Amino acid sequence: MNVELTPSAFRRACESIIKTVCDVYVGDDLIVKKMLAASLGNGNVLFEDYPGLGKTLLAKVFAKAIGAKYNRIQFTPDLLPADITGTKVYRAGNFELVKGPIFTHVLLADEINRSPPKTQAALLEAMEEKQVTIEGETHPLELPFFVIATQNPIEQEGTYPLPEAQLDRFMIRLCPGYPESVEEEMEILRRRISWRKDDPTEDVEPSVDLATFKAMQDFVESSIYVGRSVLRYISELVRATRKHEYVEVGSSPRGGLALLKISRAIAAMEGRDYVIPDDVKLVAVDTLAHRIILKIERTVEGVRPEVVVQDVLREVEVPKGDEEGRGFAR
Ligand SMILES: Nc1ncnc2c1ncn2[C@@H]1O[C@H](COP(=O)(O)OP(=O)(O)O)[C@@H](O)[C@H]1O
Ligand SMILES: [Mg+2]
Repeated sequence: MNVELTPSAFRRACESIIKTVCDVYVGDDLIVKKMLAASLGNGNVLFEDYPGLGKTLLAKVFAKAIGAKYNRIQFTPDLLPADITGTKVYRAGNFELVKGPIFTHVLLADEINRSPPKTQAALLEAMEEKQVTIEGETHPLELPFFVIATQNPIEQEGTYPLPEAQLDRFMIRLCPGYPESVEEEMEILRRRISWRKDDPTEDVEPSVDLATFKAMQDFVESSIYVGRSVLRYISELVRATRKHEYVEVGSSPRGGLALLKISRAIAAMEGRDYVIPDDVKLVAVDTLAHRIILKIERTVEGVRPEVVVQDVLREVEVPKGDEEGRGFAR
């Protein structure tokens, strides 16, 4: 089934997904918008924050809202790679493949940093190449596929920080943060009363079906123009993270690609068919900060990589228009 979307149908679908999630999750809808932008490019999303801030809830309700199949894996210290990918078992003279929970559309990797690196690494191939190798045999995953992982901040006890290679494969890192006001805090309590249970996700109706979600992905891929001046802007931002005085290792080119993909989705949600620098600025910190490794002395001082991205956003000259003659002023 092939669905084609008009720009307004695309926007309506986005608004509906965001509303479905925000009817459950109390907080800034911008976080849902950014999450949706990443998922439209099959990008992996990392939620990083303290326990009890609704990370698992956000991941589950989002997967439900986009009409996708999803599986959740609770990462624990004794979780094995085969518990994720699957294994071959000997049955009646044959080796049969028993597919693991990774064979789904959205994989919720909950508390990913509670498992040792070898287990975390079982996700790497799927996250980047959308395929899984089990005992030497490679199996493609059905698209859409992406991972939504959650983790507690690395200072917490009993955790294995994600290695850089793994972090780089997350298109975006989002920190939901604490409720902003007593009203928000109360709203969480009120919703709990109206749900009559802790987890309302099974009662959530998807906002779109899977065919529509795929059409939304195609829409961003095929309809959103990015001018040369914006490509240069993205590239200069990424390069500036590498030269910053606090930085040991800056963003990879993969960081630039992530910025490109998410900016296009944001532009589409704003109802434009071309990207402007504001789209890039909106997601630059979320897209680049987790790829930056600071010099050890800066880390010890408590500097955060977000600061580097904020600095480069101030330093790099913002283009005023593109070669097609469009102005970027708003
Ligand atoms: N912003 C929020 N909106 C709605 N419910 C929330 C929010 N923050 C926390 N909760 C509720 O608190 C509990 C813990 O949330 P959970 O998603 O398990 O947190 P985390 O995964 O971040 O540790 C859940 O019952 C969830 O419904
Ligand atoms: Mg959780």
